This record gives sequence, C-alpha cells and structure tokens, in this order.
Amino acid sequence: MSFSESDLAAVSWDGDAVGYVDQRLLPHEVRRERARTVDEIEAAIQTLAVRGAPAIGVFGAYGVALLRDALASDDAFAQAAARVRNARPTAVNLAWAVDRVLGSSDMLAEAKAIHREQIAMDAAIADAGLELIPKNAKILTHCNTGPIATAGGGTALGVIIHAARAGKKPHVFVDETRPLLQGGRLTYFELAQAGVEATLQVDGAAAIAMQRKGIDLVIVGADRIARNGDTANKIGTYGLAVLAAHHGIPFFVAAPRTTFDFSIADGSAIHIEERKAEEVTSFGPTAVAMKDARVYNPAFDVTPGHLVTAFITEYGVIRPPYAESIPALADRPAWRVLA
Ligand code: MRU
Repeated sequence: MSFSESDLAAVSWDGDAVGYVDQRLLPHEVRRERARTVDEIEAAIQTLAVRGAPAIGVFGAYGVALLRDALASDDAFAQAAARVRNARPTAVNLAWAVDRVLGSSDMLAEAKAIHREQIAMDAAIADAGLELIPKNAKILTHCNTGPIATAGGGTALGVIIHAARAGKKPHVFVDETRPLLQGGRLTYFELAQAGVEATLQVDGAAAIAMQRKGIDLVIVGADRIARNGDTANKIGTYGLAVLAAHHGIPFFVAAPRTTFDFSIADGSAIHIEERKAEEVTSFGPTAVAMKDARVYNPAFDVTPGHLVTAFITEYGVIRPPYAESIPALADRPAWRVLA
C-alpha cells in the first residue's frame, strides 16, 4: 500500500498544534497525531513517536513557537522551552533549533524557515552524494535516515533514494537496528515506498554481508559531529565503521551542517543518552530476558573521525583532514531559504 507525503510527514504545522506521524506504529499503521501541550511535545520526542536528529529539531522548533502563544507567563514559557530543548540530549539539532527560535522575534516564522531549510538541505545532500554511489551499488545502512527522520527528504537514505531515481539501481542492506528497530520498521518501509530494492538483516549479519554479499559502501546519518569528525549516531554505527575499515569498504556519513557541533573538539564531550532497560529485555511488547536483568542501553555510540571516509553535506563532500575541513565548514555562510 502506498501513502501520500502528507500522511507520512514527520512533522506538520497544523495551526493550533504540531502534527506528526506516530513513528512507533509504522509500518503497520499510519496514524497522525497532534501535540498541543509541553507534556505532549516532550513525550512525543522522548518516546520516539517523533525521532531522527533533524526531525526532532523541526518538531521542537514548532513546539516552542506554539508554546509561546499558549503560555502567557514568561517564566512558564521559559520552563516549557527548556523541557523541549532537553527532551533528548545527544542530537545537537534539537537544542540548536530551539535556541534559534528563542532568539527570534517571530518564532513561528523562524520555525517554518528551519523546516523549509531542512527540505532544501536534504535535497542538496542528496545531490552531493550522487557522485559517491556507483551503478548497481550494494549499500549497507543502519537506523533510519529517511524523510521521516528529517522532516525533509532524508540524509543518508535521501542520497540512496536520489541515486535510485537517477537510475543507479542501488540495493540496500538494511540493519534492523536493535533495540527499537528503526531499520526494520522504518527504513525498509521507506525504501519500499520509494521503490528501492532492499534486504533486511539483523545487525549481527553486517560482517558476513560485507564478507559475502559484496557491500560496496556504508552510508549512515548522524546526531552530532565533533570538530575532528567523531560522529555520534545510533548504537551499532561504530561497530559498522570498524567492520567497514577491516573490509576496505568506504564509510560515509550524510548530515547537514546543523548536525556539526563546532564547539566540541572531539567525541568525548558528547552526552550519550541511555534508555530504559525494558527496551532490551523485551522485543516489542514481548518480554524476553529476565525482567530484572542488568542492562546497558546506550542509544548512540561515537565513531572516531578517522574511520569516516567522507561527510556528505549540503555544502558538498567533506574529506579528511577533518582538522582543517570541518572548521572550514563552520566558516561557510549559514544556509537560508527565503519564504
Ligand atoms: O534514536 P533515534 O531513532 O532518534 O536515532 C536516530 C539516528 O541515530 C539517526 O541515524 C540520526 O538521527 C540521523 S537522522 C537523519
């Protein structure tokens, strides 16, 4: 079954609410929800009903603009905005977008600009990545970086879908991405919607896929990138980068400039969100491990910059040495899309 773009829009401005597709229900149910209060906005982000670094930035931006109108007291608004800003700690886009809206005299116009810019940046990332995708490439990806993760056209998945539309016939090996299965539930679904050939695999199959299935390259997204190229992304990404290096396979990270945190020298400063044990002790609603099992459940890991072959950004492909090329990216003028 195919759905319209508006059915699946990660985030929409609905006038008196921020709309979103509940990503927890996909691919089996497409249900749109409306967040109107700070509790609802915060919960949508924390429960991953809205997820993906750029998408939570856009959602948080609209959320704060909505709350400014809803809350008469400046104190109450400041507290609510702080809750939205801190709803998840690792993706830099959320705090960046909320700060940008807070610093503006017309918060709704600013949130709309952030959303428009995301759409345009995703398209530019997809264009920039095209040269890196050979014809008939077998591509491995992890987590979900498609339109529902960005509220635009997607980052890593945007590059892949664009390459498919350009006739390159990629075949995508999709890591299911334990524990919340963003790959199994969302990436495979988005690729199917776009008519791109895909094969779903458990995360542990990545090594043998590289060894036996002829993977040509890996592309993932990012939640926060330090000045030296250290990259926080969904748990399991670091392992993939090590595997790719072992097999001599290029490892690309596709992300907008807003995902770079130029204020941190390396990845050691990145706060890694740890999530609740039940996500690991259960598989969906089904309990698997002992209920009281001691669990380590980091939502992200940090891939050292030296394992990243190149970053695909809306400013083009950024290559090593990152100590020079990433600070140079910081100096580029900010991306602005007029209304
Ligand atoms: O916990 P999630 O699902 O929000 O994690 C998302 C990821 O790690 C994505 O790969 C990243 O945000 C890039 S989205 C374009």
